Amino acid sequence: MTKPFKIRDVEINPPLVLSPMAGVTDISFRRLLKRRGGIGLTVSEFISVEGLTRNNPKSKRQMRFFEEERPFAVQIFGGQATRMRMAAEMAEEVGADILDINCGCPAPKVVKHGGGSGLLRDYARLEEILKEIKKAIRIPLTIKIRAGYFDHTINAVETAKLAEACGVEHIALHGRTKEQGYRGRANWDLVRQIKETVSVPVSGSGDVVTVEDALARWRETNCDGILIGRGAMANPWIFRQVEDALAGREIFQPTLEDKRAALLEYFEMLREDMPEIPAIGKMKQLAGQFTRGLQGGALFRTTIYHSHSVTEILDRITEYFEAMASGRPYFGEGNAQAVEEEEAPALDSCEAARIGS
Ligand SMILES: Cc1cc2nc3c(=O)[nH]c(=O)nc-3n(C[C@H](O)[C@H](O)[C@H](O)COP(=O)(O)O)c2cc1C
Repeated sequence: MTKPFKIRDVEINPPLVLSPMAGVTDISFRRLLKRRGGIGLTVSEFISVEGLTRNNPKSKRQMRFFEEERPFAVQIFGGQATRMRMAAEMAEEVGADILDINCGCPAPKVVKHGGGSGLLRDYARLEEILKEIKKAIRIPLTIKIRAGYFDHTINAVETAKLAEACGVEHIALHGRTKEQGYRGRANWDLVRQIKETVSVPVSGSGDVVTVEDALARWRETNCDGILIGRGAMANPWIFRQVEDALAGREIFQPTLEDKRAALLEYFEMLREDMPEIPAIGKMKQLAGQFTRGLQGGALFRTTIYHSHSVTEILDRITEYFEAMASGRPYFGEGNAQAVEEEEAPALDSCEAARIGS
């Protein structure tokens, strides 16, 4: 029976986590999603300890969060124990509820310095980092790992055991190897095996895009929590929908108006938080994901991708949603020729493999 769980005294209720995604889960995206409901824990993008401890303004900005996001975890990455400890202390100081260590990032520039998934093949370093951090902070320490480094060195259960022995209080597994990147399917049987092995709570990550996926993964693995990443970009209501299913309620279905309002809300948050050009860039990213599967969505994405100002973006959104609401065919901005299926590049696994975990 799926129920809320605790990471020490931090209640994760509902037991659903917005999975950290570099370049995506910034303060605006997290707030947008949290407001849609169903999220028990938000996590920052992975933050470089080298940046944090050298006062890099970008890294410091990445630690910001809103009270309404709580409980909130800061995720850091790096390969050097002293810097990891210093960054962990900074996260505690800014008020994070949980400190999470990234042991999954496959990016060469992260792995080269021993961080991210590099820690999966260097247990001495991992142990040193965990112990050093554990001594320094009072908030719970958690870890997010991959199945292993190479496809032939799958060691998630051993990594989980080591982490637990070092005082880690929650283990999240993305069931792909570093070598695998984002190819194939995530191995959820490893989540089951870890859950059977350790006594701290265990959550799984990978390929959950529907309510049914989430319910099936819980049934199969008996895990405590489920992380959803890419699925939340396409459907920000997925957490609420899973929560509805868990509570035996009718599952919420967003209307066109809900979608329009969410896009506009996001754009407003972005513009409050950053200059116009990056805000427009991020807006394009979400609009692209968000309208997949919607009628006229491909053309809408094309027109949004070709917009260069705030006004243009707002006009395109208005045109699209008005056309959808009235049942009129949508031809894009003053353009009678529908550019069928000219898909805007999705921020998907390729990009993810480059920057994320
Ligand atoms: C664009 C992108 C960026 C990511 N960045 C991070 C990250 O910063 N830290 C992390 O632990 N995982 C990161 N991941 C991995 C996700 O958290 C998640 O484990 C993975 O995408 C599988 O789950 P999903 O199928 O629900 O997306 C990233 C994934 C994507 C797609």
